[in-house]
Amino acid sequence: MSDMITLTIDGKSIEAKADESILNIARANDIFVPAVCYLTRCSPTLACRLCLVEADGKQVYGCNTKVKAGMEVSTETENIAKERRAIMEVYDVNHPLQCGVCDQSGECELQNYSLYMKVDNQSYSIRDVNRPTQHWGVMNYDPALCIVCERCVTVCKDMVGSNALSTVKRGAEAIEKTFKAEMPKDAYAMWNKLNKSLIGYDADACTNCGECISACPVGALVSHDFQYTSNAWELKKIPAANPHSSDCAYMYYEIKQESIDNHLQKRIYRVTNEPHFSTVNGAGRFAYDFENKVESKNEAAFEEAVRAFEKADTIKFNSFITNEEAHILQKLAKNRNARLVNEDARRYQEFLKNYSLTSGKSLYSSTLTDVHDANFVISVGSYLKSDLPNARYALNNSVIMNKGAALYFHPVSDPVMEKIGKKGKTTDFIYHAPMAEEAILYFILYKFGKDLPASVADYIASKTETRTKTVTETIKEKVVEIVKDEETGEEKEVSKMVPKKVSKEVEFEYNTLLEEFGKDEAFLELIDSMLAKKDTFSLMVGEDLITHPNADVLAKLCGIIDRCTAFNVVIIPTSTNTLGVAQICELSKEEEGFVVGYNEKADFQLSALGDGDLDVPALNQQEGTFVNIDKKVIPTNAALAFNGYTLNEIANAVLKEDVEYTIDYTKELPLASGFKALDFDSLPNEFGNDRVEYRGYDLSSSEVEVSDEVSASEVSKLELSENETIIYEANPINQFNEFTAIAHEFKDKLQSGVFFSKSAFEKLELNEGDKVKVTANGNELELNAYTDIQIAGDIAYVSTFDKDSASKALFNTYRYNKAVVAKV
Ligand code: SF4
Ligand code: SF4
Ligand code: FES
Repeated sequence: MSDMITLTIDGKSIEAKADESILNIARANDIFVPAVCYLTRCSPTLACRLCLVEADGKQVYGCNTKVKAGMEVSTETENIAKERRAIMEVYDVNHPLQCGVCDQSGECELQNYSLYMKVDNQSYSIRDVNRPTQHWGVMNYDPALCIVCERCVTVCKDMVGSNALSTVKRGAEAIEKTFKAEMPKDAYAMWNKLNKSLIGYDADACTNCGECISACPVGALVSHDFQYTSNAWELKKIPAANPHSSDCAYMYYEIKQESIDNHLQKRIYRVTNEPHFSTVNGAGRFAYDFENKVESKNEAAFEEAVRAFEKADTIKFNSFITNEEAHILQKLAKNRNARLVNEDARRYQEFLKNYSLTSGKSLYSSTLTDVHDANFVISVGSYLKSDLPNARYALNNSVIMNKGAALYFHPVSDPVMEKIGKKGKTTDFIYHAPMAEEAILYFILYKFGKDLPASVADYIASKTETRTKTVTETIKEKVVEIVKDEETGEEKEVSKMVPKKVSKEVEFEYNTLLEEFGKDEAFLELIDSMLAKKDTFSLMVGEDLITHPNADVLAKLCGIIDRCTAFNVVIIPTSTNTLGVAQICELSKEEEGFVVGYNEKADFQLSALGDGDLDVPALNQQEGTFVNIDKKVIPTNAALAFNGYTLNEIANAVLKEDVEYTIDYTKELPLASGFKALDFDSLPNEFGNDRVEYRGYDLSSSEVEVSDEVSASEVSKLELSENETIIYEANPINQFNEFTAIAHEFKDKLQSGVFFSKSAFEKLELNEGDKVKVTANGNELELNAYTDIQIAGDIAYVSTFDKDSASKALFNTYRYNKAVVAKV
């Protein structure tokens, strides 16, 4: 926590953190300073120079100048006003006057600042050059509209971590020399750079998240899906939470009428977010049109659904569900004494329970926000890029913004992750064999633990030994020379110390755990160098651990890491509301008897995809809450109406109750699991100018009696025979579930099957479009084969997001398995 100081801005006395910038402090105190290029949570680029302020009599840039005690800041002087006005005139030079058809019109920062600075004439000019529009992945780039503010470059580098954008040179005429003498200094410098630059794109590195579109202040970067479909001001913003992944990031569904002919029917035109405060992954941004279109209520199907719940032996569901619906399913199951089955949430629940036994807390200790703020982050057992992109963003952001360091442990080689930091200096990527996860957690305890439980300390001691190594050091050696005096001819001895390299044997402490994940003592030295000036530690663990055959031991080790090291721990919830469901429902492992499925295949199926026995609303048609990775109970709102029946109506009929709305259950979520008796409508849902997230409330954690019983398990590696390979259960970027699979943005390019690195693809002599036969777990499947240029190495991943895919049958619980893969 940095010290608090007092300064004045425009005569107003303000308390501020000493390491904050003038711009952020002004914004937090509702003082307006014009600024285009700076994005909160990212580094200042000084591209726009609009944020000029006067601090203690000196003109500085507000975005990159830290506040000081007693500082006196003026946000505008005569000179600053001149500079800003000239900067805006420069931005308007040759900017195409196509506002009438520009997608950004109405929310364009160039428009807004030109009006704010009253730019009604143009003092500067230069001949324009042809800059054709480019098509990049999910977006179009129009260089003619680009003001080279670099916000897109910055957000992709500092937040997303893909580093797919950069400024590149463009051909341009030179600015007339007279302008240099005539123009305000900052405006000229800005123009000089702008006039020579464009943005360049690296398709291989881009993960199609669309965050750069969101960050672009003008219409230069737009989603080609949204382009020319609506004026910004016609759209109504519905605040919601990302329904596809457990970040549940804050976002808006933007809706208006379907068409002039069909003006009563609304549709979602796009998803937007507030890039200064939160980041939305590609699935949240582009997979928005998964609503269940139902003409009217189907009474017969409803009656059947009521009867199905009345005779259900098992209710099966997944974690793409609100807390309120999960609570209703719990009530329905209890009423029938039926089993409630959700294997994803049950495994998570079990992992959390074991973690609590050694950490002493009912919930994990950290949040993704803490990861952003940390300066030493470790990730174990999560394919971050696809499992939870926002966790990758947090890891990247901590390395870049906090001069941090990070270790990424995972079996799948990942060139996208390797874009983060400086490999071998601030970051390292340890591609270990599957089943080495336990050794990694023990290693973290070896390296960082204090006061460890006896059994853990003994195990680590059994792996620790003293070794010797030869090191070279430089010593000073005395050398005596005979020097002859040139004048007298006299000889005398002169001694001097000269450096000399010598080898010697030294002892050092070694831990054989290192070998279990393919490292040696050099790794210890690297970690020691990374640890310089680090004081805030975060560990993220993910689904590979939760589904691991030794998950109970791993969970307990994570709990001990939380208790006995400086690391705070985040256990990444696997799906959108896995954590919420795990807190609300009593779950069973096996289904039995007559099964009712809620978005799961069953004897009677309620489906938001429109393919079941009764239609239910999709998550973009519902109000309710999720528990996100930050352990916050956060609200989401319905973007579109649903004309069929809801689960609440079925529960009313089965339980003979009269609850008007599903969200009436928000205040009834179980207090014993950390929920609060708060009405849905009372939940806040916004960010403050001070960047504080005012969304919902924090789930409370309680103390749990500690039991340190943990023993190392027998590690059985996945030994491969000659024709076998390792397969991994994972989805391609931006695919999470059957709802992302039907979104139109991804549907045409839908790829479901098995994904190989380029080298593994070539080894199998495969061509794009080929099919392969995958034999694993006693099952044989024919799957489409694809290359994924964003992985390397030999492990192929098999997607499971597609509802019709049977690929889960290739795995036990663990995400890795041995398989024979052969070209069909
Ligand atoms: S594309 Fe947009 S965000 Fe990127 S530099 Fe140009 S104007 Fe700025
Ligand atoms: S879509 Fe995402 S990854 Fe691609 S360039 Fe934009 S910010 Fe970077
Ligand atoms: S916001 Fe500071 S230079 Fe652009």
